[in-house]
Amino acid sequence: MWHTNLTTKKHRFSENSVFLRFFEEGEERFDTQQLAGQWPTIFGNQNSLVLELAAGRAEYSRGLAKTFPDKNFVAVDIKGHRLRYGVRDAIENKLQNIWFLRTIIHHLDHYFAENEVEEIRIVHPDPRPKGRDERRRLTHGRFLAMYERVLKPGWLLRLKTDDVDLFDYSLGSLAEHGWTIIDQTRDLYQSPLLADHHGIRTHYEQRFVEQGRTIHYLVAKKL
Ligand SMILES: C[S@@+](CC[C@H](N)C(=O)[O-])C[C@H]1O[C@@H](n2cnc3c(N)ncnc32)[C@H](O)[C@@H]1O
Repeated sequence: MWHTNLTTKKHRFSENSVFLRFFEEGEERFDTQQLAGQWPTIFGNQNSLVLELAAGRAEYSRGLAKTFPDKNFVAVDIKGHRLRYGVRDAIENKLQNIWFLRTIIHHLDHYFAENEVEEIRIVHPDPRPKGRDERRRLTHGRFLAMYERVLKPGWLLRLKTDDVDLFDYSLGSLAEHGWTIIDQTRDLYQSPLLADHHGIRTHYEQRFVEQGRTIHYLVAKKL
């Protein structure tokens, strides 16, 4: 049973262990197939659940977790070393409301139950400009279908990118799959929507801004 596993592991690892906040696909430590629907148990509360996809070091969701201690965050990425950096920082800063999940986003619905998530944030994903990589863009229809399954009906998907082609593609893909764009800007730093980001700027974004690139941002929901 999931809960028993978690309790046992908490005893086995020290408080400083990165393992306390990190799940990795295929690891033997936990049956990760049992995570869907178990996040309230994992966090120990019923607070709303926010996902950051393609999170890298999860600077963004760590910032949100500090800003919103009454929400739970899961940062997802395929690169374990990047996520582990985030785990160490979260533990040092005693953030209780964030976990880290190493998996490919294609498997998202193995880990989150239908209607379990209140918000998905995607910050500076790889733009995947080549036509042959279209299916790997995180706003391709196959990902949108997955987001729709795990999100509570009518809750939000937020995308931030410096890449105009990915932004345009995403607007088209969202419209094609029946999502409504409720807010958007092509210049976030000149927009009141900047407030949605609570002053959090990832390493990538810092670089883009220094290069003079404008940041695009949209908020979408599926009714
Ligand atoms: C450009 S980085 C952005 C990281 C972070 N969002 C930021 O702004 O600092 C893109 C991240 O997406 C991750 N990624 C790309 N495609 C992925 C996929 N299909 N599944 C999981 N992670 C993915 C990469 O490992 C990388 O860490």
